[in-house]
Amino acid sequence: MQQPVNESAYHFGVVKAFSVASVVYLVIGAIVGVYIAGELAWPWLNLNIPYISFGRLRPVHTNTMIFAFGGCALFATSYYIVQRTSSVALWSNRLAWFTFWGWNAVIVSAFITLPLGFTSGKEYAELEWPIDIVITIVWVAYLFNYVMTLANRKVSHIYVSNWFFLAMQVMISYLHVVNSLAIPVGPFKAYSLFAGPQDAMIQWWYGHNAVGFFLTAGFLGIMYYFIPKKANRPIYSYRLSVLHFWTLIFGYVWLGAHHLHYTALPDWSGSLAAAFSIAMIFPSWGGAVNGLMTLSGAWYKLRTDYVLRFLVISLAFYAMSTFEGPIMGIRTVNALSHYTDWTIGHVHSGALGWVAMVSIGSLYYMIPRLFHVKLYSEKLVNVHFWMATIGISFYVIAMWVSGITQGLMWRAYDDYGALVYTFAETVAEMHPYYVLRWLGGVIFMLGAMLMLYNIIMTIRQTEESPDNLSVAAVS
Ligand code: HEM
Ligand code: HEM
Repeated sequence: MQQPVNESAYHFGVVKAFSVASVVYLVIGAIVGVYIAGELAWPWLNLNIPYISFGRLRPVHTNTMIFAFGGCALFATSYYIVQRTSSVALWSNRLAWFTFWGWNAVIVSAFITLPLGFTSGKEYAELEWPIDIVITIVWVAYLFNYVMTLANRKVSHIYVSNWFFLAMQVMISYLHVVNSLAIPVGPFKAYSLFAGPQDAMIQWWYGHNAVGFFLTAGFLGIMYYFIPKKANRPIYSYRLSVLHFWTLIFGYVWLGAHHLHYTALPDWSGSLAAAFSIAMIFPSWGGAVNGLMTLSGAWYKLRTDYVLRFLVISLAFYAMSTFEGPIMGIRTVNALSHYTDWTIGHVHSGALGWVAMVSIGSLYYMIPRLFHVKLYSEKLVNVHFWMATIGISFYVIAMWVSGITQGLMWRAYDDYGALVYTFAETVAEMHPYYVLRWLGGVIFMLGAMLMLYNIIMTIRQTEESPDNLSVAAVS
C-alpha cells in the first residue's frame, strides 16, 4: 500500500464509472427484488403479464444483484486496489474501458432477454450463448489487463487482495466457459453439452463456485484492503490472510454436490461435499477473525465512522453465513432445509449482509476520494446504515422462520402415515413471513436510494465547488 509516484498517473476514470454504475444497479436490483418479494406475498402482482411474472423477473433480480451490482463493485474496487497496491497505473486504460462497456452491454442484454423468456435454464448462468461469448471475451480481457498490471508493479510483493481477485478472475473464466459449453440451434437457443446427472453436477460445480469465487473471494479482496485502510491499521495477521487464501481456494471447489443431496448423483460425491463444507468453517472464520482483529485498538472509531460500520457488520454476516452454510451442507440438515425458504434466508444473509454491506462500505470510501470531494452527508450514511441493517434483519429472520416452518410442515405425518398438511396449507402459512420479507426489502431499497442520492450530491460538489479539492483526504 505505497503512495503513488504521481497520483494523476493512475487510471481512475474507469473506476469512477464502475463505482457509480454499481450504486445505480444496487437500486435497480433492490426494486426488482422488492417486486418479486411482493409477487410471492400477493401473486396478483403478476398482473397476467408474462414479462413481469415471478419466473421471468427472478433471474433479472439475481443477475442484476450478482453480476451488475456486485460485478461493477468488483471491477471498481479491483482496478482501484491493484493500482494503489502496485504503485502503477493499469496496464491498459483502453482495455479497462472495454471491460466497462462490454460488461454493461451484457447487463443490458440480460435486462432485455430474460423478461422475454430467453434462458438457458441454468441458475446464475441463464444468459443465452451469444451473450455467454461476450462475457468470456470481457472477462478474459479483465484478467489479462490485471495480470499485466501486476507484472508491471513497482513494489516487490503482490498484496493479498490481488491474490483473491486473481483467484476470482481465473476460476470464473474456467467455470463460465465449461458450464456454458453448448450446441447452438438458433440465435437465442443452445443445448448444454452435458446431460442428466453430469449436467447437474457441472451446473452446481459452477453454481457453488460462483458463490465461492465471485461472491466470496472477490469480496474478501475488497475486505482485505478497505478494513485496514479504514481502521488505519495493518492487517492483524498477514500470515493468516495467506493461509485463509490457500485453504479457501483449495476447499471451495469440492462443495458443489451439497446442492444435490438425495439426487441421482452417487452418494460418495454428496458425502465428500458435506465433509468439505464443514471444513470450510475454518478458513472462513479465520478470514473473518483476521478482519475483526484488525480493528483491535480502533473499535472506538465505530462511534463516529459510519462507513466503517458497514464493513464491520459485513464481517459479522460473513461469519454467520459461513457457519450456517456448512451446517446446511450436512445431509440430514439439508433434508429439512432444501427447497425451503431457509436457503433463501442463507443466501440473503450472505448476499445482503456480507456482499452488499462490504461493497456499500467500500463505495462510500472510494467515491469521495476518486472525485476529490467530501461525502455530501455523513448523517445520511448513518441513516442508510440503520435502514440496511434493519431491512436485512427483517428479511433474514422472516426467511429462517418460514423456511424451518415449511420444512417441518412438509414432513409432518399422522399416526396412519398420512401427511398432516396439504401443500396449499403450507403456502398459506408462509404469507405473513413473505409480507415481512417484503417490508425488509422495502426498507433496504429505500436505504439504497438514499445512498444513490448521497453519491449524486457528492459528485455534484466537484462541479460546484472546486475548493473542495483541497479538503479531500486522498489516501
Ligand atoms: C432489497 C433487497 C432484496 C430483496 C427484496 C430480494 C428478494 C429476493 C426474492 C423475493 C428472491 C426469490 C426467492 C424465492 O425464489 O423464493 C430472491 C432470490 C435471490 N436473491 Fe435477492 N433480494 C434482495 C437483495 C439481494 C442481493 C443484494 C443479492 C446479491 C448480492 C441477492 C441475490 C439473490 C439470489 C442469489 C437469489 C436466488 C436464491 C436461490 O435460488 O436460492 N438478493 N431475492
Ligand atoms: C463456508 C461457506 C458456505 C457453505 C459451506 C455454504 C453452503 C451452502 C449450502 C449447503 C446451500 C444449500 C444447498 C441446497 O440445499 O440446495 C447453500 C446455498 C446457497 N448459498 Fe451458501 N454456503 C456458504 C457460504 C455462502 C455465502 C458467503 C454466500 C453468499 C455470499 C452463499 C450463497 C449461497 C447461495 C446463492 C445459495 C443458493 C443456491 C441455489 O440453490 O440457488 N453461501 N450454501
